[in-house]
Amino acid sequence: MPSRLTLADLPPEELAGVHVLARVDYNVPLSSSGEVGDRTRIEATLPTLRHLSEAGARTVLVSHLGRPEGKPDPDYSLAPVAGVLSELLEREVPFLEDRPGSPELEQSVRSVPDGGLALLENIRFLAGETDNDPELAGALAELGQVFVGDAFGAAHRAHASTVGAAREIRRRGGRAVAGHLMERELRFLGDALADPERPFVALLGGAKISGKIDLIEAILPRVDRLLVGGAMANTFFRALGLGTGASLVEEDRVEMAAELLERGGERLLLPVDCVVAPEIGDDVSTRVVDRTDVQEDDRIADIGPASRELFAQEISGARTVVWNGPMGVFESTPFAAGTRHVALAAAEAADKGSTVVVGGGDSVAAAEMAGVVDRMTHVSTGGGAALDLMAGKTLPGVEVLELAEED
Ligand code: 3PG
Repeated sequence: MPSRLTLADLPPEELAGVHVLARVDYNVPLSSSGEVGDRTRIEATLPTLRHLSEAGARTVLVSHLGRPEGKPDPDYSLAPVAGVLSELLEREVPFLEDRPGSPELEQSVRSVPDGGLALLENIRFLAGETDNDPELAGALAELGQVFVGDAFGAAHRAHASTVGAAREIRRRGGRAVAGHLMERELRFLGDALADPERPFVALLGGAKISGKIDLIEAILPRVDRLLVGGAMANTFFRALGLGTGASLVEEDRVEMAAELLERGGERLLLPVDCVVAPEIGDDVSTRVVDRTDVQEDDRIADIGPASRELFAQEISGARTVVWNGPMGVFESTPFAAGTRHVALAAAEAADKGSTVVVGGGDSVAAAEMAGVVDRMTHVSTGGGAALDLMAGKTLPGVEVLELAEED
């Protein structure tokens, strides 16, 4: 993947006193009382915000939150995020509710001081955002001579604020570079996986093969081992002709699973035993069974102890590990052990100097449950964007940024 210019490549005079439009991904969970439930994505942008501020740039931050479908909706306001930013940066970050293109917003942006930052209201309150409307892109481009792309989580979306505005700023002779978070995500999920130190082990889980076909296809020829857990493994069990009882199986993917098994050969490892229960819940009785011994009423809800050991051994022998998706229904205590076990093995591998990259929403929650987030080499802030990048796809929000070879 060709490298992109980053903030670090811009000389100080291209930032000092200059208006910067920075696209960030503050699509964060809000509680019913409107509090930010998880600050990870906000904190992850701090290196970029500090860089801009210290360089004396006059920064306007733009983000989406949720899917308000082109209309203002107070439930999706970014106002609480402005509060969190002010707290984290220990300075007031004004919240600008006027729409791009309005004289009121222009006036507020003009009054952002050198080194100051302000946050726009949810850009998806405007219909033109998700259509990448040229008029909205043009109005956003008015807000900065430099575009900083730091919204890795939204880089797979070709929207007005992720792509259109950057393109327009460049067309007008301005700059478009990657922020520090974007640069880090591209380094760990793109470059590192394209040329991994070996052995290279991928650990995939979660409910469905269907959402991850591109990732599996891309990663299978490159890995030394692909470990498959979660309900996704059930579809592979079926392809092997094993009984899966009342478990979740993607019937329309069984044939594809058989093909992948054939292509993967010894490199593709499935669980050898499972934790089963008559239903999923916190107070259910569970059994550990061999994968050949799943009964009609059983639901497979976690990998069993022998599989945990097998997977942990593979992980601890790896120099590069990429993990996406939990091994079972980890939100329920009786089925959390498999995910916790592999998470700890991955953390130990990272402690010993292996590169361990966690990508995709559920896997991050799983790593949090196991209390190992801080021990991983890199935990991606992206969901769909992380999957796409790991699958080798081009992300429009990256493609629009200047190439490092260009000047
Ligand atoms: C995410 O949370 O995955 C990103 O912010 C993208 O959100 P979207 O799927 O609503 O475009």
